Amino acid sequence: MNILISTGNDGVFLSLSLGEADMEETVFDRFLDHKRIFRKDKDILRPSYIPDELPHRQDQIEQMASILATALKGDRPSNILIFGKTGTGKTASVKYLGKEMKRADKALKVSFIYMNCEVVDTQSGVLQNIGNHFIDDFSERIPFTGWATERVYNTLTQHIDNEKRVIIIVMDEIDKLVYKSGDDVLYHLAKVNDDLVNAKLSIIGISNDLKFTEFLDPRVQSRLGEEKMVFPPYNAEQLKDILNQRSILAFIDGVIDPGVIPLCAALAAQDHGDARRALDLLRVAAELAERSSDEEVTQAHVYKAKNKIELDCVIEVIKTLPTQSKLVLMSIIINEERDNNRMTTGEVYTVYKDLTRMMGVSTLTQRRVTDLISELDMLGLIHARVKSFGRGGRTKEIEASIPPTEVRRVLADDEVLDAIRNYRPPSQMTLNI
Ligand SMILES: Nc1ncnc2c1ncn2[C@@H]1O[C@H](COP(=O)(O)OP(=O)(O)OP(=O)(O)O)[C@@H](O)[C@H]1O
Ligand SMILES: [Mg+2]
Repeated sequence: MNILISTGNDGVFLSLSLGEADMEETVFDRFLDHKRIFRKDKDILRPSYIPDELPHRQDQIEQMASILATALKGDRPSNILIFGKTGTGKTASVKYLGKEMKRADKALKVSFIYMNCEVVDTQSGVLQNIGNHFIDDFSERIPFTGWATERVYNTLTQHIDNEKRVIIIVMDEIDKLVYKSGDDVLYHLAKVNDDLVNAKLSIIGISNDLKFTEFLDPRVQSRLGEEKMVFPPYNAEQLKDILNQRSILAFIDGVIDPGVIPLCAALAAQDHGDARRALDLLRVAAELAERSSDEEVTQAHVYKAKNKIELDCVIEVIKTLPTQSKLVLMSIIINEERDNNRMTTGEVYTVYKDLTRMMGVSTLTQRRVTDLISELDMLGLIHARVKSFGRGGRTKEIEASIPPTEVRRVLADDEVLDAIRNYRPPSQMTLNI
């Protein structure tokens, strides 16, 4: 219905039209016109959202708070190393503490700096990142490149030492930094307090890989690990509490079937008690329900979500394969496409050789291709079984685990597929009668 009010010379017009067009359905109606699943803020189920309370992490949070509280009095807290499997709430708990620290720090004496070392993964990147927090004047900022580490380090210490304050630096995914750039920067940071007069600095390192400490110089190891904490995986009951807390905030009342949250919790607990996975299952299930205009999220949506998440992981694996492995995978797919769905290594190799020639890349030996086939098998992209022919020897029987159309779709924009797009496999040598 249109209501048109216009004020012309003749006074006020009010035109009311109930045109035919208004009665017609549009392609969008189906998506707009159903009961909503999510409340306004969908981000509540995303990893970046930090809830006001973290169920089942109170002990860890209190333990960290007891170590860090001293910063509010101007003293340096011990460095902390936090370990725990993926999705056990390490990042969320430390970010939560950062928020609490800001609230408690009335005298503004504490700087809480969070850094993800998967992003900031070089020595100078880390020092520059910390230093620039304390340099207001843009022209004096430490540049990304071009300065020797020594100079970056000296500028950093100078600037952070201007005032009496405690600086807490969170280095999340610290293992990534150590594997990529070694432990030099940690060595510098661990002993920076020796060079400071006014300020004090302490480090919270977070990792889901216990082994990275073996790569640290023993001095760095003992300084960083003044306090160590381990975050245990969640069990299904704990995951249920976490999901319940979020679902109250995220969903309209009554749209979640009572079996949904226990199922998400159980599936995630089977993995290794990963809260991220549990939340992903719930979010994707609800998105699938919303997309198909269902009014309730059911267990069936959760199973669909599980498949979708698994497929998304597979897609990521395929996209990031090295070129040679992509060619081997394509050789398997091409064999399948001509109805050869139990092929031998030799048959894969024949197609592979053609493809490498078409693409102009080097042709690996059959032995090496056999290794790549085993790798694809380990990644779950294909399934290979050893088959013996009595005295005749052994070969592998190979089949793809993902439908060929799916692989082609994933690689649609990939240069590998582009180069071999017009490949026609040689006509089959054996006749299937
Ligand atoms: N106790 C909890 N209460 C509420 N939400 C939680 C809790 N623990 C984890 N989460 C949520 O689960 C997700 C994953 O948690 P987080 O990012 O802290 O895991 P992590 O231990 O840092 O994992 P990774 O090692 O992979 O970085 C986040 O969305 C987080 O908010
Ligand atoms: Mg994390």
